[in-house]
Amino acid sequence: MTPRILFLDHVGVLGGAELSLLDVARHFADVSRVALFEDGPFRHRLEEAGVGVDVLAAPESVKKVSREGGKGGDLKSLPGVAALAWRVARRARGYDVLYANSQKSFVVGSVAARLARKPMIWHLRDLLTDDHFSASHRRLAVTLGNRLATRVIANSEATAHAFVESGGRADRVRVVYNGIDPAPFEAVTPEETAAARREIGLGDAPAVGVFSRLSPWKGQHVLLDALTRMPGLHAVLVGGALFGDEERYAASLHEKVVAYGLSDRVHFLGFRRDVPRLLHAVDVVAHTSVAPEPFGRVVVEGMLAGRPVVATRAGGVLEIVEDGVTGRLVPPGDAAALAETLGALLAAPARTAALARAGREAARRRFSRDAMLEGVARQICGVAGFQAVT
Ligand code: UDP
Ligand code: GLC
Repeated sequence: MTPRILFLDHVGVLGGAELSLLDVARHFADVSRVALFEDGPFRHRLEEAGVGVDVLAAPESVKKVSREGGKGGDLKSLPGVAALAWRVARRARGYDVLYANSQKSFVVGSVAARLARKPMIWHLRDLLTDDHFSASHRRLAVTLGNRLATRVIANSEATAHAFVESGGRADRVRVVYNGIDPAPFEAVTPEETAAARREIGLGDAPAVGVFSRLSPWKGQHVLLDALTRMPGLHAVLVGGALFGDEERYAASLHEKVVAYGLSDRVHFLGFRRDVPRLLHAVDVVAHTSVAPEPFGRVVVEGMLAGRPVVATRAGGVLEIVEDGVTGRLVPPGDAAALAETLGALLAAPARTAALARAGREAARRRFSRDAMLEGVARQICGVAGFQAVT
């Protein structure tokens, strides 16, 4: 019998972690529910997919805790964490396993799992490195992980490695790669592609696309710098400001476009639901993260859409792209290298098409949704018989 799972996530917006959970939760929808600590579009997407959702709104003090924050904010949030954990623990009674999909939901969930005496899975989708987290938050996450997670699922070897390097117990971790259904990326017709190009206003110009939330570490500014070296190339920026102070970064990108005189060539599309169609509308997909990417769904999606992908050489991306074989890699934050590689890809269409074909095959083979679901199911079944770690 499939164990009953209570999934936890602290956000209501649609980041990669949430889109990935959408596929997992849909698969287990008959026996599971998702508890979110804030309302938002993620709830609608889950409900559309037939997944039951409860919103257990987090107190303000818990919402305020940020990745980079220190002990002061953490201490202030303690009563809120405890109150939320009690509510989660009460919900947990009807389930066999708790499954946290984000850091904050893991902190709350690990306390709840202990109270409810349930096993706890932590799906770790972040790199516990100082690029992404304050030292005190890494320590807290690892301490709780070692004591209260029955199993840690990491979305890449890079993520697993960073957990262990931070003091995490290697025997707790299993790597399950994100998997993505290729169908929507393959179903886009030439007519739909042409219509998307018209809508964006690309004409016949070559175009590069970035498909990421607008966030300083996602590095869209590097693409704008590269663009100044590439007359005639258009850039399509798909994604919105989702978390924390990403709005400020989004505003700075707009200012940069004006300052560089790039307004005619840069297209900000905001957060979109039609990513497959937009991937087809561009000639090259760029991944520009300046800090190591834990995994990078967009890299796989670009490959599945049959687009040549240029990505930054760090983190989980190294497990996805083989440079010169299934895509191209450039050093993070290097606008000159990015411009040069984009130029080389556009200048050699036949070679670039072969690279994109190889990328698509590799992505289909190595990052299938079925393999991800099987991997997650194995971990869930493996812990379902356990009691919470005491
Ligand atoms: N995405 C989307 N709409 C957008 C921009 C991005 O649906 O406007 C999706 C994208 O297709 C991918 C996810 O958001 O599936 C981003 O995941 P990724 O792992 O690349 O990055 P994260 O945001 O999780 O760090
Ligand atoms: C996180 C990471 C991203 C990863 C996604 C899904 O949001 O930033 O790299 O692809 O989770 O696991």
